[in-house]
Amino acid sequence: MRLSVIGCGYLGAVHAAAMASIGHEVVGIDVDERKIASLSRGEAPFFEPGLQEILSEGLASGRLRFSTDMADAAGAKVHFVGVGTPQQKDGYAADLTYVNAAVDALIPHLAEGDIVAGKSTVPVGTAATLAERVTPTGATLVWNPEFLREGWAVQDTIDPDRLVAGVPAGAEGERAADVLREVYHPSVAKNTPFIVTDLATAELVKVAANAFLATKISFINAMAEIAEVTGADVTTLADAIGHDARIGRRFLGAGIGFGGGCLPKDIRAFSARAEELGRGESVAFLREIDAINMRRRDRAVDLVVSALGGSVYKKNVTVLGAAFKPHSDDIRDSPALDVAVRLHGLGAWVTVTDPEAIENARRIHPQLNYVEDRDEALRAADAVIVVTEWDEYRRQLDPEHASSLATGRVIVDGRNCLDAAAWRAAGWDYYGMGRP
Ligand code: UGA
Repeated sequence: MRLSVIGCGYLGAVHAAAMASIGHEVVGIDVDERKIASLSRGEAPFFEPGLQEILSEGLASGRLRFSTDMADAAGAKVHFVGVGTPQQKDGYAADLTYVNAAVDALIPHLAEGDIVAGKSTVPVGTAATLAERVTPTGATLVWNPEFLREGWAVQDTIDPDRLVAGVPAGAEGERAADVLREVYHPSVAKNTPFIVTDLATAELVKVAANAFLATKISFINAMAEIAEVTGADVTTLADAIGHDARIGRRFLGAGIGFGGGCLPKDIRAFSARAEELGRGESVAFLREIDAINMRRRDRAVDLVVSALGGSVYKKNVTVLGAAFKPHSDDIRDSPALDVAVRLHGLGAWVTVTDPEAIENARRIHPQLNYVEDRDEALRAADAVIVVTEWDEYRRQLDPEHASSLATGRVIVDGRNCLDAAAWRAAGWDYYGMGRP
C-alpha cells in the first residue's frame, strides 16, 4: 500500500522505515531539511537499535523515500501524522502547533477516500477538531496511537502488543479500520489484539497508558522514600509485590525516576486537559506522581553530597549516563543529565560519560565535562553515580577495576542496578535509592 508519514522524528522515522520493511511503499515527510537529507542518505538521525538496518534496506528496495515537500504525500492511501506535541513553553498543556500545521499542509494534497491516521499523542478532543477540517476533502480522519518504547522502537512498531484504531461511526469508520488492518497485516495475521473504537477513546488510551506507567514508577519511588526512613529495601519489596500477577514486577524499578520525551509531558498535558474539561480532580493524583518523580532527582544529589561529607564543592564527580534510559541517545528531560547539572551547580567538577548520548548532552549542557571513554571518566573520581543503567555500567563495570581508577570510594546507584554486595566487598561505600 502507498503510505505517507508526516513527521520524521523518533516516532515517524521508525514508523516509515518499519512500514517499508513490512512491504509498503512509503514516503516520509518532514520540514527539517537536515533530517530528511540524513534519512535519504540512509543515516539514522538518532540512535535506535535496528533502525539503521531497516532504513538501509528500505531505501535499497526502492520502497522507502524521504522528502521535505508535502506534495509528495499525494497518492498515498494512508497518511500517518507523527509530529511532536511538546509541552507548551508557558504551561503544562500540549503544544499542538505542529499537529495543526502538518494537517493543514496535508489537506490540499488529500484525495477522496484517503485516510489520515493521527499517531501523535494529543489531548482528548483534538482528533474531533481535526476531523472537521479533514472531512470536507472526502478523506477520513482516524486516530491510531503509538505505544513504542525508545530503544525497542523497531520491534514495537513491527510487532506491537496491541493496535488501537479510533474511527468515526458507521460504514466510513468500518472501511477505515479495514484499511488499517491491511496496513498492519503481519500483526493481524498473528492475531495481535486490534481494538476498534471511537476517536476520543483512542486518544485517551494513549495518555491513560502513559499515565499508568508513570504512576507505577512513582508508586515504587514513593515506597523508596518510606524505605529510606525505615531501613527497608525497596528492591526486595518490588520483587515481593511483583510476584502478584495483578501487580507485576515490570516498571517497578525505583531510582531517579522517569524522564524522556513522553511520560513527563504526557502526564502534565493530561492534567491540563482534564482541568479544561472541568475534571481536574479526576487526575489530581498525577501532580503527586510528578512531584514524587522530581524529588528522586533531589534525593540522588543529596546522597552524593552527604556521602562526600556535606559538600561536593571542588570534588570530582563522575556521572555514568546521560540518556534518559539505556539503548537511546535521547536526553529530553533526562533525569540523568538533570542530576549531573545540579551537581555542577553545587560546585562539583562533573565528568559525564554515556555510550550514545554525549553529543546531544554537550549541545544542551556545554558546561559539563564529557568523556567518551568510561575508564577515562572514572579516573580520579571522588564519587561515582550511575544514572542510566547501560550494560557498560550495570554488568561490565567491575568494582575492583573501578577501584584502580577512582580516588574516592563512593558509589551512588541512581538506578538500583548494581550488585551492592560486590561493590561493598571491593571497599566501596554503596548507596542505593530506597535501600539500606
Ligand atoms: C514511553 C512508554 O513506555 C511507551 O509505551 C510510549 O509509547 C512512549 O512513552 C511514548 O509515549 O511515545 P519511553 O519514553 O520510550 O516510552 O520510555 P520508558 O521505557 O517508558 O521509560 C520512561 C522513563 O521511565 C525512563 O526514564 C526510565 O528510566 C524510567 N523508568 C522506567 C523507571 O524509572 N523505572 C522503571 O521501572 C521503568
